[in-house]
Amino acid sequence: RDNKVIAPHLLDWYDRHARVLPWRVPPGGAKADPYRVWLSEIMLQQTTVAAVKDYFLRFTALWPDVGSLAAAPDQQVMAEWAGLGYYARARNLLACARMVAAAGGFPKDRNGLQALPGIGPYTSAAIAAIAYDQPETVVDGNVERVVARLHAVETPLPAAKPELVALAERLTPDTRPGDYAQAMMDLGATICTPRSPACGICPLIDDCDARVMGIAAELPRKTPK
Ligand code: ADE
Repeated sequence: RDNKVIAPHLLDWYDRHARVLPWRVPPGGAKADPYRVWLSEIMLQQTTVAAVKDYFLRFTALWPDVGSLAAAPDQQVMAEWAGLGYYARARNLLACARMVAAAGGFPKDRNGLQALPGIGPYTSAAIAAIAYDQPETVVDGNVERVVARLHAVETPLPAAKPELVALAERLTPDTRPGDYAQAMMDLGATICTPRSPACGICPLIDDCDARVMGIAAELPRKTPK
């Protein structure tokens, strides 16, 4: 199978089947707002898409840009965050908003982003790809699973991580890396699911080594705890 066709196949599917989410812009369309991308990625760090939706809409209605959030009273932000959990995220969110507002905008590269409170390697890659269309590779559990299956990686997690990251980096396209990152997330969330993946409707069925071997549902393997 040919690595080069995987991103085009996935983007073609994403153009037709992207989930409509409040922080997204339509595939291939308008530029994403870095503030909205950042806010959504912080909220999504330890919380499901379903739970984040309403909070994201409420936050952006109250504070439509980073300047307004930076000027908000701590207590109001903490109160609006209530229910999302992991309250260090809300404190970092405010600290970050105030630094970004003072600097006049978000940094446009991964290293600058990662220097901000609450932004680690995953979130910096997601913002760089989605907001700035930089060919950064976003690797979460969904992406690990998709890549393990595409390349039939039988090494168990966590030992397989470096190999999966390297394979994921090689799959990342130079064109539309932000849409590509979100397409990988959608594929992992809706089709290439942990149990009973829906291979019959997968846009990458002809690109998947695990499918040919009949072991897609078994991957990624995990070292017993
Ligand atoms: N999980 C983390 N970031 C996400 C995004 N941008 N879209 C959907 N799920 C996500």
